[in-house]
Amino acid sequence: MTQSEHQMQSEIMQQPEPMNAMSHQSTRLPLETLETPALLLDEARMNRNIARMQAQMKRLGVSFRPHVKTNKCIDVARRIMSTPTGPITVSTLKEAEYFAAHGVRDILYAVSIAPNKFAHALKLLRSGVQLTLILDSMETAQLLAAFAQTSNTRFEVMLEIDSDGHRSGLAPEAAELVPIAAYLHSAGLVVKGVMTHAGSSYDCPTLDGVRAMAEQERAAVVRAAERLREAGLPCPVVSVGSTPTALFAEQLEGVTEVRAGVFVFFDLVMAGINVCTVDELALSVLGTVIGHQAEKGWTLIDAGWMAMSRDRGTAKQAVDQGYGLVCDLDGTPLDDLILVGANQEHGIVAHRDGRLAGVTHLPVGTQLRIMPNHACATAAQFPHYHVIDSERQVQETWSRFHGW
Ligand SMILES: Cc1ncc(COP(=O)(O)O)c(C=O)c1O
Repeated sequence: MTQSEHQMQSEIMQQPEPMNAMSHQSTRLPLETLETPALLLDEARMNRNIARMQAQMKRLGVSFRPHVKTNKCIDVARRIMSTPTGPITVSTLKEAEYFAAHGVRDILYAVSIAPNKFAHALKLLRSGVQLTLILDSMETAQLLAAFAQTSNTRFEVMLEIDSDGHRSGLAPEAAELVPIAAYLHSAGLVVKGVMTHAGSSYDCPTLDGVRAMAEQERAAVVRAAERLREAGLPCPVVSVGSTPTALFAEQLEGVTEVRAGVFVFFDLVMAGINVCTVDELALSVLGTVIGHQAEKGWTLIDAGWMAMSRDRGTAKQAVDQGYGLVCDLDGTPLDDLILVGANQEHGIVAHRDGRLAGVTHLPVGTQLRIMPNHACATAAQFPHYHVIDSERQVQETWSRFHGW
């Protein structure tokens, strides 16, 4: 390693607070002592969710590259990675840096690379991270190849395939697919393979629909891989993944790896499409009753959108859960109450159907657990997880990082 590479490595490895090796601390407090709002992580539920995914990966015979954007926390990631050095999937280069500082080496950055991030990616590579980038156009391929040449670097890339019209990627039959791969190859970059994310699985109204989407995701990316191989280009890695398709795929012939992230915690959107049940949700926000508007049937709590996030992912599902499902301290839904409204710091708890009669009286000071629509968005509102056991004791506090 050259002197400048050594310097880059030590810069990455010596990041301040969020990068420190000790990211958790033991607290052992009863839930009732926490100041709210606070983010709770039910460890037993999380462990069951992880075991379920691991069993499915084993059954399918594929390797697992967990997406860590949901948790952004080394303590969670260590429970889902197959080895302490990975592999993992990240959604930002800051995530890559954070996990690299905790010893992870095999990292797929799964958002198409922008030219203003080339230098950052290079810095990670030179620090010893085995970073893989993705792209889906000749335009990006040419920009990256030019940067690779001037920096004398052999970037490793995967081509993103659009398996469902959800957002980005090349169609499996796209005319540009083979030329892009051939161009990268001839420019000296390593084309590791193809990857796709069937985000439309979140919109499947039935589990049969999810199963069909898993097959669509598989077939699309396998077809793209076949086309590259038919053109004489190597394509060792074939990668798929979203939580619904990963858990409900019946077979993954031709696929080498699966990525999934939200399965660790699950959330109301996942429960809304029956990928999990409400009692499997590992993440919740602890809030406290601060007042009432009895004539409106409202109970006010100190967890508004700043705690829950603005995500209204269940709004388009069969059961709209508002800004979150209200549960007691054991995590059991309470009297069909939801957060019907959310201001920055105020959450408005009321009956789902708006009825006033029989409104449960929850005295000021009562603590409630609110299940989130979207675990990634809610977790992002907090700097740490309070990890709780089945006796409602906070066992540990785990840091998570945020930002880009
Ligand atoms: C590229 C990519 N792969 C995998 C995933 C994981 O999906 P999920 O969070 O449904 O597990 C995502 C999530 O957005 C993604 O963007």
